Amino acid sequence: MIRALLRASLGVVLAAGLLAQTEVLVLPERLRSACERDSACSGPKRQIDVRFDQVKAAALEDAAGTARMHFTESDPLSVILGGVKTWRLGREVYAAQCARCHGTDGKLEDYPGIKSLAGIGKRSSEQQILEAVANGGRVDMSGMTSAEKHAVAVYVSGL
Ligand code: HEC
Repeated sequence: MIRALLRASLGVVLAAGLLAQTEVLVLPERLRSACERDSACSGPKRQIDVRFDQVKAAALEDAAGTARMHFTESDPLSVILGGVKTWRLGREVYAAQCARCHGTDGKLEDYPGIKSLAGIGKRSSEQQILEAVANGGRVDMSGMTSAEKHAVAVYVSGL
């Protein structure tokens, strides 16, 4: 009995450590709101909702790699898993190009004239976000691929 309890609590501790490391728990929630905002995820919404727990479980193994293997291309879920990849790419671009001014969470307001990016996805489209960056002239986006631009806009939309 005690041994079982110990084993169970060890499992919880290990799982908690894993979650903290990979941030996978926030991933499905962010993707869900990104999906709803951009209507990017076609397919029966209820089905997507029901499957979110499965995504969460699969994401625990490996957000974009292993998880993708569980579903077929025609499954609306593959759209979401494609979103996981995009979100991860966006996070990389954001960390490299944007975080020094906007902070890792988008809420840093130290830079002169800067505004928090929190909730930006609710008030701005992808195009407006990219225009704000281009017009601000603080980041040279000429070296970015369109996939990277799209990805960083998706990531920022979830802040
Ligand atoms: C050198 C500092 C700096 C960097 C790097 C930077 N920004 Fe900004 N950003 C600002 C400042 C200052 C503003 C506010 C003035 C403006 O809108 O141009 C701003 C505004 C914005 C806005 C408009 C916010 C609003 O509420 O309308 C968005 C969106 C944005 N930045 C996204 C990004 C993204 C995405 C990146 C990385 C690709 C990035 N920024 C990199 C300084 C920076």
